Amino acid sequence: MTDLRNASLAEVDPLISEAIDNEVARQANGLELIASENFVSEAVLEAAGSVFTNKYAEGYPKKRYYGGCEWTDVVEQAAIDRAKQLFGADHANVQPHSGAQANMSVYLAAIQYGDQILGMNLSHGGHLTHGHPMNFSGISYKVADYGVSKETEQIDYDELQRIAEEHKPKLLVCGASAYPRIIDFKRIGEIAKSVGARMFADIAHIAGPVVADLHPSPVPHADYVTTTTHKTLRGPRGGLILCKEEHAKEIDRKLFPGVQGGPLVHIIAAKAVAFGEALRDDFKEYQRQILANAKALAGELQQHGLRLVSGGTDNHLMLVDVWMDGKGITGKDAEKALEAANITVNKNTIPFDQNKPFVASGLRIGTPAVTTRGMKEPEMQEIGRLIAEVIHAPESEEVRKQVLRAVSELSARFPLYAKRLAQRKSRVNSGD
Ligand SMILES: Cc1ncc(COP(=O)(O)O)c(C=O)c1O
Repeated sequence: MTDLRNASLAEVDPLISEAIDNEVARQANGLELIASENFVSEAVLEAAGSVFTNKYAEGYPKKRYYGGCEWTDVVEQAAIDRAKQLFGADHANVQPHSGAQANMSVYLAAIQYGDQILGMNLSHGGHLTHGHPMNFSGISYKVADYGVSKETEQIDYDELQRIAEEHKPKLLVCGASAYPRIIDFKRIGEIAKSVGARMFADIAHIAGPVVADLHPSPVPHADYVTTTTHKTLRGPRGGLILCKEEHAKEIDRKLFPGVQGGPLVHIIAAKAVAFGEALRDDFKEYQRQILANAKALAGELQQHGLRLVSGGTDNHLMLVDVWMDGKGITGKDAEKALEAANITVNKNTIPFDQNKPFVASGLRIGTPAVTTRGMKEPEMQEIGRLIAEVIHAPESEEVRKQVLRAVSELSARFPLYAKRLAQRKSRVNSGD
């Protein structure tokens, strides 16, 4: 019988071991253009895979419901201190298991069940947790929504002011999952104040550019700021809440015991490592390159006749209108055709979409992950050309093969997780 305490994953569970190996290869050999994904460093992976997964630590540093938390306190306090320094925030809670749970804690802390909220419409770029009827936010609160103007496809702040005056929300929610332009947090703060609402900014997508001063920060204006840690921030999968000191106690109480039980200490350790990486000077350069790459890719797609929602991008993502009033293809078909060529993107609704969300008229494309691999503007031009070729001929087997070959060559020039890939190869060769 194998001694489970010391055996490797490959020995204990070949099915899962092989799936992990194959996922390493998938990530390394394809082009990852999902705007919300990234590749963490080996250091972040090491912390996420550490023995802290064994630890229960309900409570907060120095105030725990369990013994043996001295090293847990070290990592959680480091994560808190680094998060506060990164964002210039009064208070940070690093325990949310995900962005959705961070957001749930904010709602619970800020307002009462049944209160009026105002959030950005999902189909205009918002997120499910900003008041969608299928989500706890839409189930628990009265929701009004705002969106982009039909002409500019950008947030119409005058209209937002009008809607806020009409509905008098207790909480004004801003931030987005699929909005390619700068968000004017200062203006939104003024609107919130003018109607007596608290302001909640969800910067899950743009946290990286915010940290690098490439996007205005909501921290001076908002009562609450949340983010995921795994997108442009390039940390482990998880959430983070920042708030003003006056809200700190209530936020901590609502996250635990309000929403969650024991924290994922291994993930908090990995967040601390990622925040440490984000405090380095080269993180700013990384973020600058993400945005430069997005501009280059957007320009190339436009040169090949594709329409971008709002005409371009100011951040790490773009929304491509592949439907083009019925002259093109659906987002669903475009996603599928690109996936067959090892280019991973996601279909996405565009504002005033003529198709249902599961079909959608657009693609959301982002540059954080390919930028982590070291790709720059020339590679973005090549990728833009490849994407356009597939979208213009989604059924062509010849185009698919050509693009597959080009993607494979491009990936090989920008290696990812090389050590892990080599270990996989040796396992396959040894028949392990
Ligand atoms: C703006 C925004 N908020 C919240 C979330 C939710 O994050 P999670 O998937 O970690 O719950 C996302 C995820 O895509 C997001 O884009």
